[in-house]
Order: sequence, then C-alpha cells, then structure tokens
Amino acid sequence: MRMMMTVVLVLFGFGMAEDYRPVVIVHGIFDGPKQFSTLSRFITEAHPGTEVEVIDLYDDVSSLHPLWQQVQGFSIALTPIMTRSPAGVHLLCFSQGGLICRALLHTLPHHNVQSFISLSSPQAGQYGDTRFLQWLFPKFMKRNIFHICYNRLGQRVSICDYWNDPHHRERYIVSSSFLALINAERPHASAPGWKENFLRIRKLVLIGGPDDDVITPWQSSHFGFYDGQENIIDMRKQDYYKEDGFGLKTLDSRGGVVLCQRSGVKHTAWHSNYSVFTGCIAPWLT
Ligand SMILES: *[C@@H]1O[C@H](CO)[C@@H](O)[C@H](O)[C@H]1NC(C)=O
Repeated sequence: MRMMMTVVLVLFGFGMAEDYRPVVIVHGIFDGPKQFSTLSRFITEAHPGTEVEVIDLYDDVSSLHPLWQQVQGFSIALTPIMTRSPAGVHLLCFSQGGLICRALLHTLPHHNVQSFISLSSPQAGQYGDTRFLQWLFPKFMKRNIFHICYNRLGQRVSICDYWNDPHHRERYIVSSSFLALINAERPHASAPGWKENFLRIRKLVLIGGPDDDVITPWQSSHFGFYDGQENIIDMRKQDYYKEDGFGLKTLDSRGGVVLCQRSGVKHTAWHSNYSVFTGCIAPWLT
C-alpha cells in the first residue's frame, strides 16, 4: 500500500514546476509509522509530489534496543533512498529518533542529507522523570537512574544511551557509549571523519518548547542542558559547542543552525501540529 502511494506520488510529481526532495522520517521511542500519517499528509499537501518515507524499523517496544544497533538498521534503510535521490534528501526525526539521525549523519561518509530537522529531540541528553522512565524503572527516581544506566548492561537500553545526569558528570563521560561520543565529550578512536560527515548537511533545524513535558530539560532540544546546579546553559555556552568537537559551532557560524521554539505543544503533539509544521518544518523541506 505504501509502495503504491509512493509510486502514485512520484508519477504525480512528474511535470510539476518544482521537484521536492524526498523526506525521510525517523520515529521516536514507543511509536512508529502510524503516528506520522498526519505529518506525511501535511508534507504532501504543502509540497505535492514529495516522496515521504517513514522508516518502519524498531517500532514501539523495539525502540528500546541499543541506539547503535538501531543506527545500523536505519542506515541500511536510508542508504538506497539517498542513492536514488542524487539531489539529496531531508531527514525529519522525532524525539529519540533525532539522536539516531544525528549518529547517522556522523557515521555515513557519503550522505546527501540537506536539511536535518530535529523535532523535540534530546540532543544534549535527558534528565527527567517522565512516564516512560517510570514505566521502565518503576522503583527509581531520576537521581538514582545513573546506577542502572552508567554501566555496560544499562547502555543496552536506548534511553540510557542519552541519559545525562548532571550530578554524575565523570561517570557519564566514562560510561556513555552513545551520547558522549556523538557530542564529542569523550575522546575516542573511531571518530575520524565524523565532524566532516555531519557538516555535509546544509541546515540543522532544532525544534522544541517549554510545554513539552517529556524532554527534560526542554532546552536539550536546542542543545542546551543543565550544569551541576541544574541551571540551564545554552547551546552557545556549552563546551561541546565552544570546542566545536562535532561541528556544531562551524555549522552555526555559516548560518546552518535554526532554532525554532514554540509554546503550548506537548511532546506527542509536535508532529501533528499544523502551525509547527508551517512555521518550523515546511520552510526547510524545499
Ligand atoms: C500548536 O502549536 C501552537 C504553537 O505554534 C500552540 O500554541 C498550540 O497550543 C499547539 N496546539 C496543540 C494542540 O498542540
């Protein structure tokens, strides 16, 4: 069915004045393609003929698999779409999916992603008691989760891969096998090229807002995070920005970082909110 839709849309796209690049969507934790039908419709209504592909991998409970494992799977799905789209594609990634996408952008040397839209994604990590967390670790409070997350076994649960406890900074740097690597907070051997690969994108669009209620602190969606006293330190004052370890500062200095902040949007409403779509997403999907 999805195949047929795509074929119809591609045929439709022929002969139109504008050719839009394909949009590849990566879902978040505990969801899957179902949750993105509204967003897919917004895109094809605004930009008729666009091929929209919601990757159907690691859905629902499978989204708890370790992130590096998911990155492998998503890279196998993404590569052929990029290969048949010489003008490039756009990546639109929600929540946890935004971290999967960023790891893809670091590790795929010949990717042709133009806009990377990070939709309420904890790019600087997560430190908060959300209902997901309470479901996963019912007996634990956020200040104790580091005991579970910061060891080899814990790092095999996706949420631990971006758990960032500001009160256990050293343990995080040593134990995080995902976020501390992609944010270049831990020196590591496997990274030559990661920064250059990331800098192949043209735009990084960071979308988030104060009423999200899941991403904590919400500023993590804009690369801000807590310091040791739980004050918010903005993206441009973060060490990983100042040191430009993974290219964020370079991208920003060439005008490639767009911050989009909206109030009144709950976490699971971002991808079906039309004003978020028109204001923060559609302009970057050309
Ligand atoms: C949609 O987004 C706007 C901000 O752009 C917000 O004011 C509104 O509350 C949102 N609606 C829903 C249902 O999330």
